[in-house]
Amino acid sequence: MLIHSTPQLITLSGGPQRGRDLGRLGLIENGAVLVQGETIIAVGTTNELRAAYPAEPTLDASGRTILPGFVDPHTHAIWAGDRAAEFELRLQGKTYLEILAAGGGIISTVRATRQASPEQLCAETRPRLARMFAHGTTTAEVKTGYGLETAAEIKMLEGILALDAEGPLELAPTFLGAHAIPPEFKGDPDGYTTLICNEMLPAVKTWWQTHAPDYPITCLPDTSLPFTDVFCETGAFTLAQSRRILETAKSLGFPLKIHADEFDNLGGASLAAELGAVSADHLVKTSAADIAALAAGDTIAVGLPCTPFGLADPQYTPAKAILEAGGLLALATDLNPGTAWNENMQFAIALACRYMKLTPAQAIAAATINAAAAIGRADRIGSIEPGKQADLLLLDVPDYRHLGYRFGGNLVHTVIKKGRVYPAKG
Ligand code: NIG
Ligand code: FE
Repeated sequence: MLIHSTPQLITLSGGPQRGRDLGRLGLIENGAVLVQGETIIAVGTTNELRAAYPAEPTLDASGRTILPGFVDPHTHAIWAGDRAAEFELRLQGKTYLEILAAGGGIISTVRATRQASPEQLCAETRPRLARMFAHGTTTAEVKTGYGLETAAEIKMLEGILALDAEGPLELAPTFLGAHAIPPEFKGDPDGYTTLICNEMLPAVKTWWQTHAPDYPITCLPDTSLPFTDVFCETGAFTLAQSRRILETAKSLGFPLKIHADEFDNLGGASLAAELGAVSADHLVKTSAADIAALAAGDTIAVGLPCTPFGLADPQYTPAKAILEAGGLLALATDLNPGTAWNENMQFAIALACRYMKLTPAQAIAAATINAAAAIGRADRIGSIEPGKQADLLLLDVPDYRHLGYRFGGNLVHTVIKKGRVYPAKG
């Protein structure tokens, strides 16, 4: 299939974009892409590709900007129930961490998720994944973390693998047993940390090695295990507990992620850099030293602007400082029932332009090629280059800057996933 006559083909070619390099779009005017099967075969101008491939069936993209499918590298998309009542409490002045400390927040979603059957959990999650896909997300990371006991965490992991197999949205799983201290360990966070290290991580590894081969999973880095993540935060896991969990996970062979500096600076970002984590996420209260530590390595800083927006918090990830230090920056939604129930990466881009002061070009690169790097898959997705998987979007706009500029709706006209064409709805 030859997709041709796009006014702007945004290729994002050339790999992840570091520091001031962020925003290199690789724009081809009057561009064309040749897709065969699941793969991009050729990229160029319409004239070049039409001459080289005269017999191919065509898809006319006149008036429509083309870019890679969005990669959403940080979501909690699988859960049961909702927290609408908690939203109202927050509007009345209770803080997120106060609600968590009182046994609500994450713990109330844990109660609902533990009770849900695997079928119910998937049934509640499926429409969210469909909305993500309709808004242009072609690959998403999804975390466990609402089970907080071995069996319920594995139920979530199994749900992620089952939903990934259904497609078309591809999912990269993350084990987040260290999301909160469960009620059974209230007052004993070290006890729960020990359970994670001694029981849960080895059990997840064994379960994965036995069951993952039954699933056609394709979007993890070249490792046989899911990511392990920790919520390193006041009221969740201390820096020392986070270190124990991540060091144990690393020694078992898990690739690492961390939630750091969402509310308080505990040093989680520097820990992530030290341990060679794939990403460090949130990074609102991050210090200059943490930023320097991230920039010195390959750990991707993932900004989640929907979260401060969802909490009506005025502070956002200091993108400019991260880029000036030479860091790698990606964007994600953080889709979750507490702080950010938003499936739409276009809205994350609009917020990043306003509150993280990114240009549309920088935000697009952060939501595609750098987001792919944040799940260790920049080799396969995140850009439009020969040999890469054919995941791309046709937007109903003639200029990429409409992304960021416009918000609250859906600019996606067509999603192409692994070479298959899906008209977007709504
Ligand atoms: O990334 N901060 C921890 N986890 C989520 C919120 C999850 C929840 O509230 O259910 C976050 O913001
Ligand atoms: Fe999160």
